[in-house]
Amino acid sequence: MKNYYIECTNLFKIYKASELEVVALRGLELSVDKGEIISIIGSSGSGKSTLLNILAGYDFPSAGIVKVGNYDLLQMSKEEIVRYRRKEVGFIWQDTNKNLFNYLSAIENIKLPMVITGKNKNIINDRADELIELVGLSNRKNHMPYELSGGEQQRIAIAVALSNNPPLILADEPTGELDDETSQNILDLLNELNQKLNTTIVIVTHDPKISDDVSRSITIKDGKTSIETQLINNKKNEYLLIDSIGSLQIPKKILDSNNIDKRVKIYNEDGVIKIEADNEK
Ligand SMILES: Nc1ncnc2c1ncn2[C@@H]1O[C@H](COP(=O)(O)OP(=O)(O)O)[C@@H](O)[C@H]1O
Ligand SMILES: [Mg+2]
Repeated sequence: MKNYYIECTNLFKIYKASELEVVALRGLELSVDKGEIISIIGSSGSGKSTLLNILAGYDFPSAGIVKVGNYDLLQMSKEEIVRYRRKEVGFIWQDTNKNLFNYLSAIENIKLPMVITGKNKNIINDRADELIELVGLSNRKNHMPYELSGGEQQRIAIAVALSNNPPLILADEPTGELDDETSQNILDLLNELNQKLNTTIVIVTHDPKISDDVSRSITIKDGKTSIETQLINNKKNEYLLIDSIGSLQIPKKILDSNNIDKRVKIYNEDGVIKIEADNEK
């Protein structure tokens, strides 16, 4: 079997809010290759942030398997989780205020994660300069976050996320608060960094338009991945995903228009699988 960089198998997350149980992830499956840039698209409440927080090591699934690189996220000690968060992942939040410290300048924000990991001062200075140039904001070094536009703040946030050179960047609706043009610039930057640094990037968003901008997009619905769109030579190819026990979700449109309810008949004819509505009910 192929080895993926990120592998989620049959992932469940159940939140208990007082008496109520909310199933945020419902047997979710996801495989991502090293060096890929993908988007996960879903409406509000579909489980996007839950998934991303699990991948970041901020939260844990109720059941299932999550592996990232050499880490098995369910088998780690507290110390390993801290190391994982610092070394393996950079996180970008939708809320620009959450990404940057308001009382630190742009360049100080970029330096902070390296200071925390105890890097040498000269290395930190050089790397911070390199990063601020990489995101195109060398002329905003000493600006405070509130002196930067939303798009500039997200660029600095990307530099902060990259500061310890993590192999994985997770972005939770990184363009959620930006206008169309600025969003496009941020997506272009993420694509550029993916190419230049070979960083694996997972972007979650409610905006289906993103499937024009990344090579692979996966739709998440009710806590489960169902459809994948791949951009090949600027043409979109859509696939249904099959999970580890062989289930696939037939789109509701097809179910409804064929009057399909609880069961179907399935035929395998010359390599084409046919599904037929059950007319004998
Ligand atoms: N800490 C929590 N406690 C209880 N329910 C939660 C919690 N976090 C998320 N949920 C619920 O889980 C579902 C998925 O949430 P979330 O992952 O934030 O969705 P998205 O990011 O796609 O909008 C929602 O129904 C949400 O209300
Ligand atoms: Mg969310």
